[in-house]
Amino acid sequence: MFWVGIRRLVKYTNNPPDAAALMTSARSFGNYDLPSALADLLDNSIKAKAYSIDILCIRHDGEPVVRILDDGHGMSEEELYDAMRPASANPDDERAPDDLGRFGWGMKSASLSQCRHLTVLTRKEGVLSGASWDLDDLADWKMGILEPFEIENIANSKLLERDGTEVIWTKCDRLSEFGRVSSKGFNEIVAHAKSELALTFHRYIAGEFGLRKLKISFNGGLLAPVDPFLRDHLATQEGPVEHLELEGKPFNVQAFILPHFSKISSHDHERLGGEEGFVRNQGFYIYRQNRLIMHGTWFRLVRHGELSQLVRVAVSIPNSLDAIWKITVDKSEAQLPSGLRSRLKEIVKGLKSQSGKVFQSRGGRIKPTDGKTPVWAKYVRNGEVRYYLNREHPLILQLLEHENAEVAQSFMATLGVIEDCFPAISIGEDFAVRPEMMNQSALGRDAFIEHLETALPSLLARSEGSFEKLWELLQVTEPWAGQTSVVEEHLKSKGWW
Ligand SMILES: Nc1ncnc2c1ncn2[C@@H]1O[C@H](COP(=O)(O)OP(=O)(O)OP(=O)(O)O)[C@@H](O)[C@H]1O
Ligand SMILES: [Mg+2]
Repeated sequence: MFWVGIRRLVKYTNNPPDAAALMTSARSFGNYDLPSALADLLDNSIKAKAYSIDILCIRHDGEPVVRILDDGHGMSEEELYDAMRPASANPDDERAPDDLGRFGWGMKSASLSQCRHLTVLTRKEGVLSGASWDLDDLADWKMGILEPFEIENIANSKLLERDGTEVIWTKCDRLSEFGRVSSKGFNEIVAHAKSELALTFHRYIAGEFGLRKLKISFNGGLLAPVDPFLRDHLATQEGPVEHLELEGKPFNVQAFILPHFSKISSHDHERLGGEEGFVRNQGFYIYRQNRLIMHGTWFRLVRHGELSQLVRVAVSIPNSLDAIWKITVDKSEAQLPSGLRSRLKEIVKGLKSQSGKVFQSRGGRIKPTDGKTPVWAKYVRNGEVRYYLNREHPLILQLLEHENAEVAQSFMATLGVIEDCFPAISIGEDFAVRPEMMNQSALGRDAFIEHLETALPSLLARSEGSFEKLWELLQVTEPWAGQTSVVEEHLKSKGWW
């Protein structure tokens, strides 16, 4: 090759990005929604050693405005200008162990994912500074600088009295879905953000693991921590903390099996996200620096339905493992490092039989002598076993005594057909091979209550319209007899008890 050895003269020119184009693209870095955008700002407040954070998400003249105020150490003017700069830090730099940041983008990209105008006011050692970006007025990276009197006019009065930082979002086009969100819709978005943050930062709000206890107020109300493992519930099974290492850096894993829904109050059930949260949110809970970044995934280590809905596994990783876990800019996702797959798979395998037992212990066994009215019964004659639907069960009886004789007859015939086709062999096989997977009880609290609600009119009729008799009947009749606390709570909520 003739040019080998020839020194090439390279000319350079500056080729910076177009400000408006780059900042508009930054709106789509990550996949922020309101809770994850707020979480990114809360990360910064935590890093700034804040004890208390006030979040305000309101509509002013129909326009959403969001303000996040902390009492952290604040920034000097120079620090603020650095912080406002996009990509203000190199993601490859080593971070202090308590730093929740990584990319030098969060404050900008999280804010601009929701709004077009970002103002940051800050006070450090008594000195106020303020700066702003406006996506509609960005030519040549023109950043707004706020004079002290302007800051005093718009800042939360608390910021004028003590150090801290206030981030203000206006022109919230994305948050209001370009003006399409109604006030009801906005309230729903805000309520969702509130409950997500109570979960995301629950370790900080509760001051666990030696963390500085954080007070977060949201539209005036204090957030209570939402513990996804219900650790204060007596029936929660807590596994040991396993200390693991990845590339010489320690992290830990701990498994929990939640109590069966019948043992959980409706309040706790709601706090865990209602039916959807309870059933869907099994899986790993990944905490980065003790803040939850993702949950409800098994990283494809477990096939769907292989584990009961009650298993949740906390994985707590330090920020030094960010690169290996491939933490995303919006800190809402991570990828399971390949070197860990087999170890976590083993941990999960050990949980299979345990979690099945929580379900297995519910229903399914026929105990003829316990005085309760079962749905299924069996008789043993001449060495033969036959399962049959109990004709004495009040729901069945109600239909058998239907005023329309044809309906009653056809129901009778239907019962016979169901019994004739009872899948005894299949059940036997499944139970022999995978007992932990057998789950024939009602799928969740909501389904259980729905079935009860449907049955109540007929049960009340059977009880001659008396609530007292109805309660007595429910206490001795399957499936309600096994879950009287849920039934009682439901009747009370209806004002029947
Ligand atoms: N509330 C705050 N109090 C004090 N300093 C802050 C605050 N918010 C941001 N900063 C400063 O601004 C810098 C830039 O914040 P930004 O969120 O944009 O990036 P980062 O936190 O470094 O990384 P990441 O993109 O991962 O969030 C922070 O490193 C911090 O020094
Ligand atoms: Mg940050």
